[in-house]
Amino acid sequence: MTSDKFEPRIMGFLCNWCCYTAADSAGVARYQYPPNIRVIRVMCSGRVDPVFIFEAFSCGADGVFVGGCHLGECHYQLGNYDVMLATALTKKIMTKIGISPERLLLEWASAAEGSRYVQMITEFTNNLKSLGPLGTTDKVDMDVLKVKLSAARHSVEDMKLRTGLGNLTKGFRKEGDYSAQTIEDKIDQKIAKSIDSAIGKQETLLWIQQEGPISLDVLTKKVGQPTADVEKYVSAFSKKGLVTETNGKLSATSNE
Ligand code: FES
Repeated sequence: MTSDKFEPRIMGFLCNWCCYTAADSAGVARYQYPPNIRVIRVMCSGRVDPVFIFEAFSCGADGVFVGGCHLGECHYQLGNYDVMLATALTKKIMTKIGISPERLLLEWASAAEGSRYVQMITEFTNNLKSLGPLGTTDKVDMDVLKVKLSAARHSVEDMKLRTGLGNLTKGFRKEGDYSAQTIEDKIDQKIAKSIDSAIGKQETLLWIQQEGPISLDVLTKKVGQPTADVEKYVSAFSKKGLVTETNGKLSATSNE
């Protein structure tokens, strides 16, 4: 599909108090902008969970826009700071599963900034047009991408990862340095392992459910993590009775 014909589908999560009102002002002022966005109003950008974002991609969005109040103007004080961490974590996972992090945009607009909202959506739509439909430019096979998105969607509900993100949020609230580099560094230092393990576990189970009976070798290639880690995930699922091994091949018990 050429970039002129492709019309990206954008899921927008807009804070009620600022960005949603900016979108409303843009409509009242009859500004023209691309009609590609479908909006869900949330009370604060801090309400936007990584689960929502992966759900949107799983449902066919080519891009996700999160719009909040300007920093320092959140009606719940720190919601827009918190969402900076949540979206940084989401972008990290997107990169790991082969989706361009440019498909997720976090921006701010005050209630009076209808023209700024129009500019942001226009630029994001054009950027997504040049990226192409989800999966195309990302060079991930669509069947593989479906499994990876489902794994990502479930991995962000992982208790250890959620606890890690919660602790990180508390730490940032205390220290107050929300620069992009600090966020990136802290995520790498504090929760990178939990991210890998949460995605690895989910992918392991999904691939066994989808492709089983499957050998450990093939499974390891599909998951893309070290054999020892995949063996560890398989062993944990076996103990829970979710996976069985017969003649060196793994199956999900629900498939039997
Ligand atoms: Fe708008 Fe929190 S109320 S970002």
